Amino acid sequence: MNREEALTLLKEHVKTDRLLRHSLAVEAAMTAYARRFGEDENRWGLLGLLHDIDFEKYPQEHPDNAPKLLEGSGLEDEFVKSILSHGIESGVPRDTRERQCLHAVDEMASFIVAVALMRPTRLEGLKAKSVKKKMKDKAFAKAVNREELIASAEALEVEFAEHVDIVVSGLIEQEARLQSEGYSLLD
Ligand SMILES: [Fe+2]
Ligand SMILES: [Fe+2]
Repeated sequence: MNREEALTLLKEHVKTDRLLRHSLAVEAAMTAYARRFGEDENRWGLLGLLHDIDFEKYPQEHPDNAPKLLEGSGLEDEFVKSILSHGIESGVPRDTRERQCLHAVDEMASFIVAVALMRPTRLEGLKAKSVKKKMKDKAFAKAVNREELIASAEALEVEFAEHVDIVVSGLIEQEARLQSEGYSLLD
């Protein structure tokens, strides 16, 4: 499956702009991490793009219905299991790097977009220090579990500052692409 096909499939099941943006942000972070680890950028990008495909239709059971929505797409079982692994009680362990990574960037990618939206220069020059500051601000993006942000990056064995840098670099690249297509994560 290529990116275009994945995006078409995603848009069949995701109609809200908010979830589409989140999916694009997680895609961006996963692609940047695939590069960092020398992994398959297309595969990791698709994991990010498709990980919440069933959330809008089945928020209560999410991500249990992802396999159903991905049926017939030609994606291999291991890929679908990696999507399941980001659930809280999916029964699929986060025992591979792509699974640990998906977990580590899921909330972080959108948190960083939220931080960027507060800054005049948006993502440009955004460093871990600013992200940490916002993590201490309990009123900011309060649904995001701070401990989880830290623990998931630790599980990936990446220093927090580098973690932020990688996600930011992915988001900058994604934003440039989206803007050229008349879309944005930041407006
Ligand atoms: Fe999810
Ligand atoms: Fe997500």
